[in-house]
Formats: sequence, C-alpha cells, structure tokens
Amino acid sequence: MCGIFGYIGSKPASSILIAGLKRLEYRGYDSAGICLVENQELFNCKSSGKIADLESKILNAKLPQATLGIGHTRWATHGEPTEINAHPHFDCKKEIAVVHNGIIENFQALKSLLEKEGHIFASQTDTEVLSHLIEKFYSGNNFEKAVQEAVEVLEGTFGLAIVCNKEQKIIAVKKGSPLVLGIGDKEIFVASDAAALISHTKRVIYLEDNEMAMLSTDGFAVKKFDGTIIEKEIQELKWSVEQIEKGGFEHFMLKEIFEQPQAIANTLRGRLSSNGVKFSFTLDPCFVKRIIILACGTSYYSGLIGKHIIERITGIPVEVDYASEFRYRNPLVNESDLAIVISQSGETADTLGALKTAKAKGAKTIGIVNVVGSTIAREVDAGIYLHAGPEIGVASTKAFTCQITALILLAVYLQQNKDDCWVDLNFLSQLQELPNQLQEVLSQAEKVKNIAQIIKTSTNALYLGRGTNYPVALEGALKLKEISYIHAEGYPAAEMKHGPIALIDENMPVVFLATKDETYEKILSNMQEVKARKGKIFAIVNSDDTLAKNLADEFIEVPFAVDLLSPIINVIPLQLLAYYVAVSKGIDVDKPRNLAKSVTVE
Ligand code: M6R
Repeated sequence: MCGIFGYIGSKPASSILIAGLKRLEYRGYDSAGICLVENQELFNCKSSGKIADLESKILNAKLPQATLGIGHTRWATHGEPTEINAHPHFDCKKEIAVVHNGIIENFQALKSLLEKEGHIFASQTDTEVLSHLIEKFYSGNNFEKAVQEAVEVLEGTFGLAIVCNKEQKIIAVKKGSPLVLGIGDKEIFVASDAAALISHTKRVIYLEDNEMAMLSTDGFAVKKFDGTIIEKEIQELKWSVEQIEKGGFEHFMLKEIFEQPQAIANTLRGRLSSNGVKFSFTLDPCFVKRIIILACGTSYYSGLIGKHIIERITGIPVEVDYASEFRYRNPLVNESDLAIVISQSGETADTLGALKTAKAKGAKTIGIVNVVGSTIAREVDAGIYLHAGPEIGVASTKAFTCQITALILLAVYLQQNKDDCWVDLNFLSQLQELPNQLQEVLSQAEKVKNIAQIIKTSTNALYLGRGTNYPVALEGALKLKEISYIHAEGYPAAEMKHGPIALIDENMPVVFLATKDETYEKILSNMQEVKARKGKIFAIVNSDDTLAKNLADEFIEVPFAVDLLSPIINVIPLQLLAYYVAVSKGIDVDKPRNLAKSVTVE
C-alpha cells in the first residue's frame, strides 16, 4: 500500500506529482504530501485526507516552480493518518526527504539509536528513521553513498524515493515494494505502479529487489545495493490512457463491472480454439501430483472455485490456502507439487511470501496475475495474464471473473496435455458464450438497484450458496461489507442449520445463489427454512425457474450455465448489489475506508 510518485525534468513538478498521486490514490488515501527541490532547498506541503485536500492546500502554499520533486499517498501503518505522519519525512537539517512504501521492521531499534545520537523525530512513523539514518551517513557530497549505507541496515520492505537539497537527483530504492521508472524525453518518473506513468510515457523499467536507481535530467543509472551497475531493459506498456479513466461511469467499480464481458473475452483471446487451449509456456502435467492454490481476499475465493474446476476437469487433487497462513505454517510441499498463485495486483505481500515459500520447497509455480510486469508475474516459473485491463476500484470485480476464466483454461490445458487428450467441445463453446451471457445479466442493473434500496438499511446480511457457488456467496458478502460497511457472511447453504439459522428473523436479508445444478433441490429446501422464519429472501435464479422465484421476496434472473461456469455469471448481480447499496449510502465506493487496492504489507 501507499503510492510513490517522483518527477525530474523541465516541467513544473508540483502539478505532475499531484496528477501522478491521483492515479495512485487507490493504494492509500488517508494522507498525502509532496516535496520539491529548488535552489538547494526542500519545500514541502502535506495534508491529512485525500489528494484533493493536498491539492487545495498546495494552491495556497507558495511553493516554487521546481522541476524536481517526490510525492506520496499514504495508507497508515505506523502512526495515525495525520499531517505530521504524512510523507515526505525529513532529517533534522531538512536536507533529505524520503517517501516510503512498505514497513521498516527494525525501526524501533534504529530510532532509539538515532535518538541517543541526538536526532529529533517529528512523527510516529517507521519511515522517518530513514531520513535521519541517511543524515547520519551524509557528509555534504555523498548522497548516493549515504543512501547505500542507510539501506544496508534496514530490515523489512521498502520502495523509496529520496531527494537531497544539494542534488538535482532522485534516488529510487526497491526491496519488497514495487517501483517502476518511466523514461521520457529528458524527463524521468518513478512510481509505485506503471498505470500512473501511462499519460507521460509508455517506456518503463521495473526495478528488482535490492536495486537502486539514480535519476537525473541526463538519464539514469541502476545499481545493486553493493554498487554494481546493472543494465536494465526498457519495456513498452500496452495499456492506454482511456483504460485508466472512468469513461463516463460514475465510479471505476461500476465501469469495471460493466467491462466484464470484454475482459473475459480478452482472457480467452488467442488461447482457446476448437482444439483446446494453448499458452505461451509448456507444462508437463505428468509431474503434477497435487496443486496448491495460494491467494488472498477475492483472489482466494476464485481459487476456491478453481479447486472445483481443476479437480473435476483433471482429476488432480487441489488444496487452496490463504497465502498468509500457508507461508507461516511450514507447509508440506515437494517437487511434484504445482503452486498456482492468484493475484490481481501481482504485488500482494502475503501472496508473494507464499510464492517464495512454495518455490523454496521445490514446487513449480504458475501465476494468474492481471498487472503486467508486477513482482509476482516476474517471480513465477510461468504465468497467465488476465488481460482484464487496469482494475482501479478497491473492490475487485473483473479480476475475479477473469481469474475463474483463466483457471478453467489452465485446467483444460493440463488435461488436454495428458495422454487421454480430453477436450469437451460443448464445454469450450459454452465458455465462449460467457461474454454474451454476462451482457444479459448486466442489462438488469436497474432491477438490482431497486433491490439495493431494500437492503441498504440492514445491518447484517447472509449469503448462501453450495458447490461452486459457495465461494460466490463468500465473494458477494465480501463485496457488500468492504464497500457498504454492512456486516455480511457467506456460508455453504447446508451449514445454515448448524448455527446461522439462529440469526434469521424478518430483519435478516438472505441472498441465495439458487441457480440450477446438482444441489438445486436442496437449496430450495434451505429457502423454505428461511421463509418459515420470516427471513427476507433475495435470490439469483435461472430465468425459467418458477419454483425459486416463488420462494423469493425479490429475484434476479440469470441465464443457465453449467456449475463450473455459473459463478462467473452469478457473481455479477452480487457485485452490482454491493455497488448500489454503497452508492445509496453515500460511500466513496472506489475508496472505501481503511482499505487499499494493493496490500503490500503483511
Ligand atoms: O491483488 P490481489 O488479488 O492479490 O489482492 C488480494 C486482496 O487484497 C483483494 O482481492 C481484496 O480482498 C479486495 N479488496 C477484494 O475486493
């Protein structure tokens, strides 16, 4: 979390920094700040709240027209989201300014040491030790060396942009938190995410861990922490500016929900034909005795659906683990395991940690990732990009449906490469039908909006589904709680009678995933049980299903799909429901409280 943006060139830095920070605001939005370098002096402006607050403060701040600066948007870890704790942080003499994404784990020990040496700290952040540490090693003309020495004693994760009053230079440092350089014409940018660079340049360089870059108007040099010079490859970004704009929608989340037919078509494109699935990597399925899926949040839920998909199609046993649990439980993993890591951002710290654990224990790894060039995408043995386009709303939507699509492709790929060469042509053509079916569901947005008006006053909600639709219930509940702040739980429908049924009364909305599959009849019985206790039933049903419609107080019709595909269709009304509930409660759906899009801390 936290977003870093830095600029050095010939244009006024302040407005470029603000525009860059706005693009990164999804990474954290509780406070922000910038620092400009001009005439051997550092000028800063900080604010609690969102970038817009900082922007209005800058208007009255009388900052110079500098052409060099760094900025930061914060997701607080150490210290409250106040102006004092906002980045940049300075040394005692205000010669060094630092913005940081990550956590300095040994900051307490370093702070005590520095305080004993006379350094005065202004904030409660872990970041501030860095500026004082650099000050300790800085003798007036050794900026780069001082940064190197400071970095060597740090433990934890850090993406840093650092400036010094005496140098027309930005030093960018990476260990564990993402940083990418944007190479323009006599201007250079540094950002936490390539999406923030697109409006300036498409030529980027991804820094790797333990690398630092020295940026000036003359160019850049990248070195290892020990000073060894590294040749870096410039890569071309494929995303366009339009893709990172709202395109007429009120929120990114709504735009991204409506982009799903196209996003899924993009995930399928070039990979699916009547002969089966092809990827740019080759994977011998014979070595795979077990698959372990590792992910967090929404990506974890798509992994739960992936278990059904892969086990059913390939017969290979699949375990799904929260990445954060897997990495710390000394898991049993060996060379015959395939670990699939799923991450929209490709930067989630726990997922990255789990990937490293699986690799260290000998597993082969595949990443299902959306953000091209992200850390996880670069660390895995082989990767499947979603090609869903940038997902900016904090609540994940199109990534979820594209992840499931990618898992289906992967399962078919694994199976077709086995001796028996299974390709179910009917299933593959149903897969290709998905974009059209999604359009059909999206055309009911107005009806979902009306249902949202009923649910918005609730304080709790229960989401029930079975089989492949149980994770959809979990995802529906997660969407509602994260953006509408209504407490919601997802449950396997049959488990309701083992406890949650005690909660049901006329005030409890119960959302049922009641489309036709093997357990459909049993879901109908669960609906009866809720109805008997006066619970309010909101059901996702197939268009031709009068039984489920009769049991529901309100329903949304969806086209029929086999149970391995139905989660992709059934989740759409739940995404819309959460969205409209949140909007009607006046919540900033793209930036709900306490959250950040990319969770780069443990
Ligand atoms: O980028 P990732 O897919 O690794 O992110 C994982 C979770 O942080 C993410 O899905 C989170 O749960 C979303 N806010 C859900 O909408």
